[in-house]
Amino acid sequence: MEYVIDIQNLKKSYKKRKSNELIEAVKGISLQVKKGEVVGLLGPNGAGKTTTIKMMCGLLLPNEGTVTINGIDMIKHRLKALRHISTVLEGNRNLYWRLTVRENMEYFSGNRGLSKKEISARIDELLERLNLTEKANEMVNSLSRGMQQKLSIAVAILANTEIIFLDEPTLGLDVEISYEIRKLLKEIAQEYNKTILLSSHDMPVVQEICERVVIINEGRIVTDDSVSNLLSLFDTKAYSFTVGSTLSLKDRETIEQQFIVQTEMNESGQSIVTVTIQHSDDFYKVIEIFKERNIVIEKVDRSIIDFEQVFMKIVKGETGHEVAVSV
Ligand SMILES: Nc1ncnc2c1ncn2[C@@H]1O[C@H](COP(=O)(O)OP(=O)(O)OP(=O)(O)O)[C@@H](O)[C@H]1O
Ligand SMILES: [Mg+2]
Repeated sequence: MEYVIDIQNLKKSYKKRKSNELIEAVKGISLQVKKGEVVGLLGPNGAGKTTTIKMMCGLLLPNEGTVTINGIDMIKHRLKALRHISTVLEGNRNLYWRLTVRENMEYFSGNRGLSKKEISARIDELLERLNLTEKANEMVNSLSRGMQQKLSIAVAILANTEIIFLDEPTLGLDVEISYEIRKLLKEIAQEYNKTILLSSHDMPVVQEICERVVIINEGRIVTDDSVSNLLSLFDTKAYSFTVGSTLSLKDRETIEQQFIVQTEMNESGQSIVTVTIQHSDDFYKVIEIFKERNIVIEKVDRSIIDFEQVFMKIVKGETGHEVAVSV
């Protein structure tokens, strides 16, 4: 199987300016993406998302590892590899501020060897789709940040490459523009069978656009799974059992062997055992354990696990859902 993006064991360290101390931003990331896949790179601040994307799109040279785009080695044949990708980086350095919206679209397409005539109809169509028609002749520096971001994405789409990288495409944008961008990216992926890799902090963005999610933390991949699988994990229910007495260490270990458990104590010295239930059968299994070990259940409450908690659990390696990291 040929992958359109194939990165192997990427590593990157930065040197801190004053102390010369090394920061290992990316510690050995390997990832393969098939044609037409839409992949979300999710992770907390400082996880290494931007560094990884910059290495994939040839902006940053890795200390170790390889980046192969459509079979082309990005490090050895950068220009050739760059023909297959377009990138929208976070922030607003993707555009020329002193050119108008239309001029930016024409200029960057021209760089890709597309003539004005060739792309004029596509520009009109994209402007329309992004509600930017009225702004076509306005200078980019007079646009709102959200409009600039829409334009950056339009420029990337016009390049008509097989692969599009986007770093935090909806960061800091208002609800409406974020919605438009999500809608556009989804449509583009489906209509033109593009391979898209985007980074985000934001689960709803990933959930809506991507089929697959790769969670990275501290420079390593901790989870690589389909969004639907992860959502079923996010759907996880939890029950809090208040038991008659303090749970013994042995009791706790028995439950912990099978479930994700949090134990705390209330003021009356009773243990409150919160168990994450992934399958409905599990609820009865927990009850069975309590019964076998003669633990009296005084109260059962349903607690809700939100995405944030599950995400943090994955990041901390507490769910058993992590993948092995290849080194
Ligand atoms: N140019 C740089 N010089 C020094 N350290 C850097 C540089 N760029 C990034 N880092 C450090 O590398 C680590 C990874 O940063 P990176 O920007 O790749 O993370 P990120 O996942 O994109 O974070 P965020 O969600 O905040 O955008 C962080 O500790 C960051 O401080
Ligand atoms: Mg970043």
